[in-house]
Amino acid sequence: MSGPASQSGVTWTPAPPAADTQPARRVSQHEFAEIRDLAHKTFGLDLKQGKEALVTARLSKRLAALGLGTIGEYLEVLRSDRTGGELTSLIDALATNYTSFQREPQHFELLRTKILPLIASSHGRTGVWSAGCSTGEEPYTILMHAADVMGEQNLGKLRLLATDISNKALAKARAGVYTLDKLADLPADWRRRFLQKGVGELSGSFRIRPDLASKVEFSRLNLMEPFENAGTFRVIFCRNVMIYFDKHTQERLVRKFAAQLEPGGWLLIGHSEGLMGVRNELEYVMPAVYRKPA
Ligand SMILES: C[S@@+](CC[C@H](N)C(=O)[O-])C[C@H]1O[C@@H](n2cnc3c(N)ncnc32)[C@H](O)[C@@H]1O
Repeated sequence: MSGPASQSGVTWTPAPPAADTQPARRVSQHEFAEIRDLAHKTFGLDLKQGKEALVTARLSKRLAALGLGTIGEYLEVLRSDRTGGELTSLIDALATNYTSFQREPQHFELLRTKILPLIASSHGRTGVWSAGCSTGEEPYTILMHAADVMGEQNLGKLRLLATDISNKALAKARAGVYTLDKLADLPADWRRRFLQKGVGELSGSFRIRPDLASKVEFSRLNLMEPFENAGTFRVIFCRNVMIYFDKHTQERLVRKFAAQLEPGGWLLIGHSEGLMGVRNELEYVMPAVYRKPA
């Protein structure tokens, strides 16, 4: 018997499958393996076994946008894409962009007390790099601390580079527009000094003052690729990025960072990360803080 069935006055009908468990869209083991290998090879992501549901959920929007019904069809699009454009969208879909202003504030305390005063009193230009800057909250936090400690007139002494692999995140970062709830961790007077309030249709939104935002050099950079031309840095923030990489990838990346650090320069990583078991030439200073020997 097909269709609704009536039993003692109650009508039963087959339950529709839940959106993320539609058989057509669920990732199979070999499809998962192909995506995992591609993500690992191209952007270092270590997708562990058991992340199939996450991959399915994250790709379902992309499939819908492309009008595709199955992950198999999506893989065909990926394989035949010669421009690399779909690979970029895959990264956007799989990467976690969560960030916030003043995230892990101990690092900004270190920046204010130990690093920025030295940059202010130095003659040349000093590099600070936010590697994996996501939607911009991290480099703009660095910038606001620098403006506060060094004075805006001295910001020319700072070269603030902010890079990410995600074009989508970078577009938001460059726009520098945030809703009020995102600014909760900034001192109240910083909002007045460093941000502009939207009016009319834009009320509820704030943007980083454009003359200030222009001091940040945003650029797309895949940390898996060589970056010896990026310059030298006093500080590299690479926080909550390496957590998604395997030990071998972390080791290679830390070595590359060390090569770009000035002697005595700092590498700051996320507090839930650690370089335990990652061979490197940096000195441990305190949790999530490493330093290149002077
Ligand atoms: C969770 S966010 C961290 C943002 C910020 N650093 C923080 O701690 O709040 C991780 C960022 O790393 C970026 N990312 C992941 N893999 C990358 C790679 N291979 N090269 C460059 N950026 C990458 C992601 O696009 C994402 O924006």
